[in-house]
Amino acid sequence: MTLEAVRYRRGSLQVLNQLLLPQRSVYEEISGVQAGWQAIREMKVRGAPAIAIVGCLSLAVELHQGKKGDEGELATFALESLDYLVTSRPTAVNMARAARELSDFVTGEVRQPDSTAESFKENLISRIEGMLEKDIRDNKSIGNHGAKHILSKAKTDKVIILTHCNTGSLATAGYGTALGVIRSLWSLGRLERVYCTETRPYNQGARLTAYELVHEKIPATLIADSMVSVAMKEKGISAVVVGADRIVANGDTANKIGTYQLAIAARHHGIPFYVAAPSTSCDFTLESGEQITIEERPAEELTDINGLRVAAPGIDVWNPAFDITPHSLITAGIITELGVHDPQELRKVLIDKTS
Ligand code: MRU
Repeated sequence: MTLEAVRYRRGSLQVLNQLLLPQRSVYEEISGVQAGWQAIREMKVRGAPAIAIVGCLSLAVELHQGKKGDEGELATFALESLDYLVTSRPTAVNMARAARELSDFVTGEVRQPDSTAESFKENLISRIEGMLEKDIRDNKSIGNHGAKHILSKAKTDKVIILTHCNTGSLATAGYGTALGVIRSLWSLGRLERVYCTETRPYNQGARLTAYELVHEKIPATLIADSMVSVAMKEKGISAVVVGADRIVANGDTANKIGTYQLAIAARHHGIPFYVAAPSTSCDFTLESGEQITIEERPAEELTDINGLRVAAPGIDVWNPAFDITPHSLITAGIITELGVHDPQELRKVLIDKTS
């Protein structure tokens, strides 16, 4: 059975508390916007697409559970909630983008002459529910495009992939982005092995990706982040595939801290480097990666392990959660639901294909 980060049916939302994985699988009820914001902020749910989906579904749940008011009051509540949800985490663009799109929808809906409180609720909830299905559909397309592209360049029958952080079912509505490509290669019988990084300091690789790969029985090996160069030299890596939290107009990409050094090492070893993400992770309002806000996280993520201090007391800590990979290092392309594109062409392709 595939792992589910998010369990939703109309009026009820549960998220798998990822802070407790891999030891315990506990689903927690999200009763509304405040609880959704909190779950995202505390990283009970994380990963760019999952953040947006849980944020928006928390609004759908609160609307469905009897939020009172006329359509104007409901619209104000929805707009304020969306603005609030965007403040939960700063680097991934998906929540901000979803908020922008839903805010436009809300404004349009409430202007309809025949709009009522009931029709407003129904239409907004249905619109949000559509995001869940679309994300899974897009991830499957990403998986197919990516697998096909990697295999077309491969020198061996079966490929070996290196990935970073967690981009699987736990980070999305299901199937995954970079992990979706890995899943597709596996289902085609063309994957020999995956190397997944530990992903220090938060260990999304060791805790979550390793968990997903073991769950799916995909042959996989965990390595520390400091082992990636030697793995590239000695382990026959065919391609590196990572996710993205924000892809800007020139193709620069924000992703989990450590992605940048992976891209540098891949270039040095002549290994194709791919970014896999849905178009909802694109933000063409920013021109270059330098404009992306990078989340900084608590020092304890570096100084402590399971609440036990391991770093020397008194040391200063810098803990950025993401870094920017310049487009020039994304050598093999960016995989979206629309295909595999050169980072600098992506903007034009997406605008042409979606207009
Ligand atoms: O801090 P996180 O765990 O939310 O960061 C997640 C990542 O950086 C992922 O690699 C990225 O969001 C892609 S998720 C499909």
